[in-house]
This record gives sequence, structure tokens and C-alpha cells, in this order.
Amino acid sequence: MSSILISGGAGFIGSHVVRHFVNRYPDTRIVNLDALTYAGNLENLRDIEHLPNYHFEKGNILDRDFLAGLFEKYQFDGVIHLAAESHVDRSISDPLAFVETNVIGTVNMLQVATQAWKGQMDGKRFYHVSTDEVYGSLGEEGFFTEETRYDPRSPYSASKASSDHFVRAWHHTYGLPVVLSNCSNNYGPNHFPEKLIPLMISNIRQGKPLPVYGDGLYTRDWLWVKDHASAIDAIFHQGRVGETYNIGGNNEWKNIDLVHQLCDIMDELLGRAQGTARQLITFVKDRPGHDRRYAIDASKLRNEIGWEPSIRFEEGFRMTAQWYLDNEAWLQDVISGNYQEYYDKQYARK
Ligand code: NAD
Ligand code: TYD
Repeated sequence: MSSILISGGAGFIGSHVVRHFVNRYPDTRIVNLDALTYAGNLENLRDIEHLPNYHFEKGNILDRDFLAGLFEKYQFDGVIHLAAESHVDRSISDPLAFVETNVIGTVNMLQVATQAWKGQMDGKRFYHVSTDEVYGSLGEEGFFTEETRYDPRSPYSASKASSDHFVRAWHHTYGLPVVLSNCSNNYGPNHFPEKLIPLMISNIRQGKPLPVYGDGLYTRDWLWVKDHASAIDAIFHQGRVGETYNIGGNNEWKNIDLVHQLCDIMDELLGRAQGTARQLITFVKDRPGHDRRYAIDASKLRNEIGWEPSIRFEEGFRMTAQWYLDNEAWLQDVISGNYQEYYDKQYARK
């Protein structure tokens, strides 16, 4: 049986990647390694945790001995590395946590994989999941390609950029068979409500102000999270070793337009009069160093591997809003912190 280690599998994107791989590859052992920080939530995986090819290991990527033990125990053939601190605003208030997990943690993963696979790199694969934020900020025109010069501007994007460089260095220096992807903003179920879309949905529901940073004209390219998971699968299996692939939704929105759209959908789904939610919009102080625009050119991925997003934004957006309304308990548990008790109850026997 082959074995894949997925780090950060209890988080937003990681949980969709874990579910995708567990369901799609029943003969492959999928090991989810997660420290269960504030962002990790095993509730996200409740529907698949009973499946025989799924395993959970609680641990920190800062602990190299623990990682080496995991490689020994499961004899991994592949790694998909998502574990990270992921929120830009938190990186501004607590940058060192980002250096530790995103930089040192990634180097630990590289180091342990290289040692475990020494002399037997053939057929192995280390996949590093990164972000388009490493490329910096675009003006009104243009797109990020895989050739765009790195120009990170927040502690978060600087830490991710640094990790990308280390991944490439391990490939060139030690022959580690790596592949990387840089993806645009994701949206969908299980998104932690500190990020724009789930925060707005949650606040609309509660009738709380909707904080829009600065002039609201900042632009992001949004991708349905399950499409990111399918792109990771495609790149993991078909991507060329040593290569980087940009992943995007070809779906740019100015924040204020996106919030307007979300307000209208929520009014409709909640049976409120149109315009109710828009009244909650409040322009607030801007984020320091706020990147103006991100937009991805994903033609390399399309041309080489044939991957394209599966759904239109209007559809994904509506499904996301509906998911949060249907999963009020998930949202409340996250907001109250109750979800953290789940692990203790569920795994106390281990
Ligand atoms: P997330 O914050 O929702 O999840 C991160 C997960 O990593 C959590 O489960 C957390 O418990 C775990 N983790 C954190 N520190 C750890 C540590 N030291 N050891 C072990 N586990 C640890 O993040 P996300 O939004 O799902 O992002 C996942 C990855 O995708 C990140 O690498 C991020 O940079 C990248 N990415 C995110 C987006 C996006 O829009 N969210 C876009 C492109 C790339
Ligand atoms: P976010 O979801 O934090 O993702 P990122 O900063 O990684 O792109 O933010 C998306 C955009 O929304 C970004 O331009 C910042 C903005 N934003 C707000 O206007 N208000 C908010 O409360 C948040 C969290 C973000």
C-alpha cells in the first residue's frame, strides 16, 4: 500500500485535500499530520475519519524527531505540505510564528524527507503548497506567471516566499523530487471566519458590521477550494519534478463588489429585504502594506496538465453561503472555541 503524508490536513484547504485523496485513492494510506492550532479543526473531517485508509497524527512540524518517527512508521512515498500559519493580519501582529512554522517547519519537512528517502528518491514526491502572494502586488493590468519575480510584502507572504526558495534549494542541492504550486485566494466550506468571505457571512447572519479595509477596491482572484484540491491531485500525479504551477480561478473581484454580491445572496437566503445586509458595510482602517491586486495566469497548468476550474463563481459563492447557513453549529463552535474539545474527546484513547 502506498502512503501519502498530508500536513495541515485539519485546516481549511488541507481538509478538502485529505477528503479528496481519501475518497479517490482508497488503496493509498493518507496520513493527516496536524498540530491542531486555532486553525485546525477535526470536525472538518468527521465524515471520512472512519475510513480505513485515513489516519490522523497530532504533531508539530517544528518537532523534527516526531517527523522522522512518522516517516519511519508509515514509509511515505509522497508528501503534500500545507501546514502553515495562513492569515495576513495575524502575520502583522505576530510575525515570528510565521517564520517558525512556515520557514523552519518547512525546512524540517524537507530535511526529514530527504534523510528518509536517501538513496531511494525514485518515484517519491514532495509537494509544497504555496500562495500567489509571494509575487507581491499587481497594478490595474497584468497577471502573475511562474516567471514573475518574487516580491513579498507581508510577513505571511515573505515567510511563504522563503519556504518556496528552500524547497527549490533542496531539489537542486539534495535531489529531492519536489513540485510546487502557487494558488490564488480560496473560498468554500470550512473556511475559518477570520478570512474575508466567512467573516462577512457570519457577520451578516448576526447583523454585525461588515468591516471593509481601506477603499474596498483591492482585488483578489477567487478559487473554489474543491477545485484547488483537484488541481493539487493533478499536479501531484502529473506535474514535472522541479516545476512550479500557478493555480487560479480566472475570477477577479474587487472586495467591495464581492461583499455587495454576498450581501444580496445572504438577504435572499435569509428571507430578508434586499439591501438589508448592505447597510452593515463599514469602511475601516486599511491593512498595513495591503497588496492592491492579485491575478493568476494559470495557462501552464491548463496547457501541460489540462486542469481547469470546474464551477463558476456565482454557483460556488451561493453554495458557500448556503453551507454556512446549513452548518450554523460548525460556525458557532469555531467562534466559541468548542471545536478544540473535539480532539480530546475523540482521541483520548490513543
Ligand atoms: P489554515 O490556516 O486553514 O490551516 C493550516 C493548518 O495547518 C491548520 O490545520 C493548522 O492546525 C496546521 N498547522 C499550523 N501550524 C502547524 C504546525 N506548526 N505543525 C503542524 N500543523 C500546523 O490554512 P489554509 O487556508 O487551509 O492554507 C493551507 C495552505 O495553503 C497554506 O500553506 C497556505 O499558505 C496555502 N494557501 C492558502 C490559500 C488560501 O486562500 N487560504 C491560498 C493559497 C495557498
Ligand atoms: P483575506 O481573506 O484575509 O485574504 P488575503 O489577505 O490573504 O488575500 O482578505 C481578502 C481581502 O479582503 C484582502 O484584500 C483584505 C480584505 N479584507 C477586508 O476588507 N476586511 C476584512 O475583515 C478582511 C479579513 C479582509
